[in-house]
Amino acid sequence: MDLSAIRAYVEQTAILAGETAMRYFRQPMQIGTKRNIRDMVTDGDKASEAVILPRLREAYPQFSIVSEESGRSEVPGAAYFWHIDPIDGTTNFAAGLPHFSISIALADAGNQALVGVVYDPCYKELFSAARGMGATLNGTPIRVSGTPVLEQSLLSSGFSADRNGREIGNLNVWHDMLLYCRDLRRLGSAALDLAYVGAGRLDGYWERGLNTWDVMAGILVAREAGGRVSDYGGGESGLYSAGEIVASNGIIHDEMLAVIAGAGK
Ligand code: IPD
Ligand code: CA
Ligand code: CA
Repeated sequence: MDLSAIRAYVEQTAILAGETAMRYFRQPMQIGTKRNIRDMVTDGDKASEAVILPRLREAYPQFSIVSEESGRSEVPGAAYFWHIDPIDGTTNFAAGLPHFSISIALADAGNQALVGVVYDPCYKELFSAARGMGATLNGTPIRVSGTPVLEQSLLSSGFSADRNGREIGNLNVWHDMLLYCRDLRRLGSAALDLAYVGAGRLDGYWERGLNTWDVMAGILVAREAGGRVSDYGGGESGLYSAGEIVASNGIIHDEMLAVIAGAGK
């Protein structure tokens, strides 16, 4: 497969979807909810998805699709899957806060990403990666930070919309992590959190309860920029099965895992 060609096509797709999303941003918009009151969807999410899906289907009809708002559409026997979040950070988007993204990844059936693109249409920042080919921001190579210890680190995290009871665990981690790192942020787009780790703006990020469309593209960007990404145990098995993710510059990773393992104890 020509990963460079796929990457370029996905980059263009994300930019077009971002331009569409921006036509809804800070305008009166239709806001609905899905699983619960925190799980929002706007007409901007749907319009962005309506740009992405036909373009990917037209160019790559042989690949299956997993997209947040319209679900799975399987091509029998497909070896590759698109994982699409038409707007990651809908709570920010709906509130007029300029921090959200379009996230598109291509992965094999074992969830190994080949191409990942995260686009921030407010700042016109395009984070992009292809397996083995490095990660870039607007075409310039990016690299994770060199921060040597957790106590000097700036980290981010997030809280799943589906948090009934479950997120108490993350409040414990948030509490403990705050005591060990320099400072914490809750920015509101998992895809951008991961891209920012890749760009060295954040030293690390963790969250639980995520879906493939939230993180698949950002994970590839962080890894191709030299970062380490694992589940809470330091392996890979919980990355998508439990939606657990820890991403870092690699240097502070084990310190982060230790705080997560000990949180609330
Ligand atoms: C959400 C964002 C947020 C994260 C939530 C996600 P959405 O995605 O990535 O930062 O904390 O867990 O659900 O709903 O805006 O696409
Ligand atoms: Ca999301
Ligand atoms: Ca979304």
